[in-house]
Amino acid sequence: MREARYIVRPMSNAVRLFAPLLCTLLACGRSQPTTPTPAPMDPTERGGRAFDRWSSDPGMKAGVTPEGARLKDLYGWDLRGTEGLYGAAYANKATALPRNWLTSTESATEIAALLAAGTEGGPALATYLDDEAIGAIAGFIVGVRDGALPRPDWIWDLSAGTPGNYRLRDGADAARGHALIAEQCADCHGPDGTGMRFDDGAFTLGSHARQKAYEDWFKILNGQPGTDMGRQVTGDGRAMAQQIHDILAALCDRTRYPASDATGGEVPDGDPRCGAYLR
Ligand code: HEC
Repeated sequence: MREARYIVRPMSNAVRLFAPLLCTLLACGRSQPTTPTPAPMDPTERGGRAFDRWSSDPGMKAGVTPEGARLKDLYGWDLRGTEGLYGAAYANKATALPRNWLTSTESATEIAALLAAGTEGGPALATYLDDEAIGAIAGFIVGVRDGALPRPDWIWDLSAGTPGNYRLRDGADAARGHALIAEQCADCHGPDGTGMRFDDGAFTLGSHARQKAYEDWFKILNGQPGTDMGRQVTGDGRAMAQQIHDILAALCDRTRYPASDATGGEVPDGDPRCGAYLR
């Protein structure tokens, strides 16, 4: 069950940053304020969302039924395929393919062609998506690989045999994360992250982040497909990675962002995923 007490679309970052300038240009206060046009989605944000769930992309061709596989099922939330989170050494998902995009050397154009044809027996995306959508996915992959976007290994490390198979890295500022959550997430998720439950009541924002930060880094970067939640971070790859890292470290506070009655439970003291950030 989903509670949606806080579904209010806040101003996008771009609108918030440029609102004063817009006001000067449009003479706010002197005439009737105009509704700002939402900023167009960055192609890499679109690509990230399509990587997550490509059947939600507007570039879906008419008359085709998408196969179930999401690209994250094939390559993992860390884009490393069987060498990464979904590989045999870690979560061991049967859907994972032996292709590590983080160590790939192809150009975005070449990656788009690979995806269009389907890699290692995965779906041929050209059957389902138009060229622009496939290009956006390739641009997202190259952005993460080359660091124009955050890389997962700047935020968390793989960890074989420990719960969740990952550990948040050192170097986050939880205090800054609390401020970012209040600013960016609270309107929709509630100040304590309990305003909306995920996965049929299994998680609050906090309990999800303490158990699945390997997924949440991706959601904060690209938003949640099919919802109003878009990219939540700004700046270059390192700056965005730091904001995501700070938010995830802040969400390790079990008192400020409780599991409440979520059925997925709470992590115990000493849980390795949050490590030293766990409160
Ligand atoms: C405009 C409203 C909005 C904003 C702002 C927003 N979210 Fe969301 N978020 C949503 C909605 C709606 C969902 C989908 C919930 C669902 O699947 O039931 C969601 C889903 C998520 C998920 C996915 C959980 C899952 O099911 O896998 C995560 C993680 C998340 N949000 C984190 C954040 C964080 C962290 C912030 C702030 C940096 C934030 N969100 C800002 C609306 C928002």
